[in-house]
Amino acid sequence: MMNEKDTFYITTALFYSNSYLHVGHAHEIVAADAMARYKRLRGFDVKFLTGMDEHGQKIEQAAQAAGRTPQEHVDYVAESVRELMRNLGADYDIFWRTTDPAHIAAVRKIFNRLYEQGDIYKGAYRGLYCTPCETFYTPRQLAAGRCPVCEREVCEIDEEAYFFKIGKYGQRLIEHIEQNPEFIMPKSRANEMLNNFLRPGLEDLCVSRTSFKWGVPVDFDPGHVVYVWVDALSNYAIGLGFMSDDDTLYKKYWPADVHIVGKDIVRFHTIIWPAILMALGQPLPKQVFGHGWVNIDGKKIGKSLGNAVDPNNPVATYGADAIRYFLLKEIVFGQDGNFSIEALVNRINSDLANDLGNLLSRTVGMVDKYFGGELPAEQAATDFDEDLRAVAARVAKSSEEHYDRMEFDQALAEIWTLIRRANKYIDQVEPWKLVKEEGKRDALAGSLYNLVEVLRIAAILIEPIMPGIPARIYEQLNIQGGEWSKAHNFGLAPKEIKVTKGNALFPRIDNK
Ligand code: ME8
Ligand code: MG
Repeated sequence: MMNEKDTFYITTALFYSNSYLHVGHAHEIVAADAMARYKRLRGFDVKFLTGMDEHGQKIEQAAQAAGRTPQEHVDYVAESVRELMRNLGADYDIFWRTTDPAHIAAVRKIFNRLYEQGDIYKGAYRGLYCTPCETFYTPRQLAAGRCPVCEREVCEIDEEAYFFKIGKYGQRLIEHIEQNPEFIMPKSRANEMLNNFLRPGLEDLCVSRTSFKWGVPVDFDPGHVVYVWVDALSNYAIGLGFMSDDDTLYKKYWPADVHIVGKDIVRFHTIIWPAILMALGQPLPKQVFGHGWVNIDGKKIGKSLGNAVDPNNPVATYGADAIRYFLLKEIVFGQDGNFSIEALVNRINSDLANDLGNLLSRTVGMVDKYFGGELPAEQAATDFDEDLRAVAARVAKSSEEHYDRMEFDQALAEIWTLIRRANKYIDQVEPWKLVKEEGKRDALAGSLYNLVEVLRIAAILIEPIMPGIPARIYEQLNIQGGEWSKAHNFGLAPKEIKVTKGNALFPRIDNK
């Protein structure tokens, strides 16, 4: 039991305002939301931040291409991201935008402070830059002369610029990563950071640009705008009030428990961001989790490939709960995975309609048919109860451990062993035979009650991932849901269960 509530601060990356939204973004959003919901159910005091990365050259260009001013453009895109979040059922606490005047003021203060204390100095940058990735490269970092991440052409930059002495923090960072094996997750991503970037030594980082205007102006040298990654990364602290007149939330929730980001930007979150925090004397986030890449029909998502499924469409067709289930079951969090409508429909039909949906409809149907809709209080055991209860107890515990490690697919796999075990229990108990046997009425009632209990427990366990489903289960069973701990107790529902037949949780979908 927690006395004063423990806090849990989780973030997604900030979405670029030039992005068309695709199922890769949806994967990140639902993972972060599932974790936030899980922690809330466990009784934590949760802050979940997401939002928009609205500055930089490529957003200026995207606005121009769309015939809008940059501000009009970022306002428009921010609304479409909020809409996607609503459709996916993402329950964030803070939607932070880097064009917010409070954000801009705090970034200027951060830049000033780093300059005043000698971490930033003025020089000239001559080198390579990938505008879509907003990343500086040295020639040897390129892959076949192109950006090693997005494989597009890089451009040459030759301009006056400010530099951050990031190398000062390299050794401390190496030690931090070595001593905190959970700082970078999955663990394999830590070696890449150490071997490819940290151990070879960090070169001073260019942190301002002069060739365009759409950014946070440097206070003491207004021809410069702050490098968009310094601007954007700072949001995780500024969104809580860091460097503002009221930093109550920052004091309460920082350091972040976890930043959820895609594998392409782990480097920014585990090197640049921690170095900035070290320079500012602030604690580092406890963890950066780099999830994998979602492909569509086996191909990399790309505007040019034309395969970027708008996640709003499958949500409209199949519902948010089914999409959330798919994105966290089929695509292992931390690894690359594949999205296809065919695989989605298969999952809906087998796992959701057949296993879970049928368990509910069979249970409600039998209470209705054998007891006129209400279980009597007189109930007895059957020979199969002990194992069913044991599986329920084990699954509540194991799924909790998997949620704690953000192993969503494994949490779901465990929960589904319970659901399938309950369907098998029906086949073992054979209620349709018990109903005809003398003196078996109490055992029949007891067996149906056990099914209600499995449904109640499963409903709690799936709630982080499918938040729309538990209420529909409770409604048909006329029982109460509740916090996570109630999934650990078998037998909490009142004995006299009164059911109300409802619609199928997940209607089967024609496989064509
Ligand atoms: O990177 N599969 O924004 P973004 C899985 N603004 N995840 C994917 C993906 C895919 N195919 N494509 C993108 C940015 N993502 C910066 C972040 S944070 C201070 C600034 C992930 O709109 C990507 O890895 O390009 C990132 O975590 C998020 O979606 C937003 O990507
Ligand atoms: Mg990107």
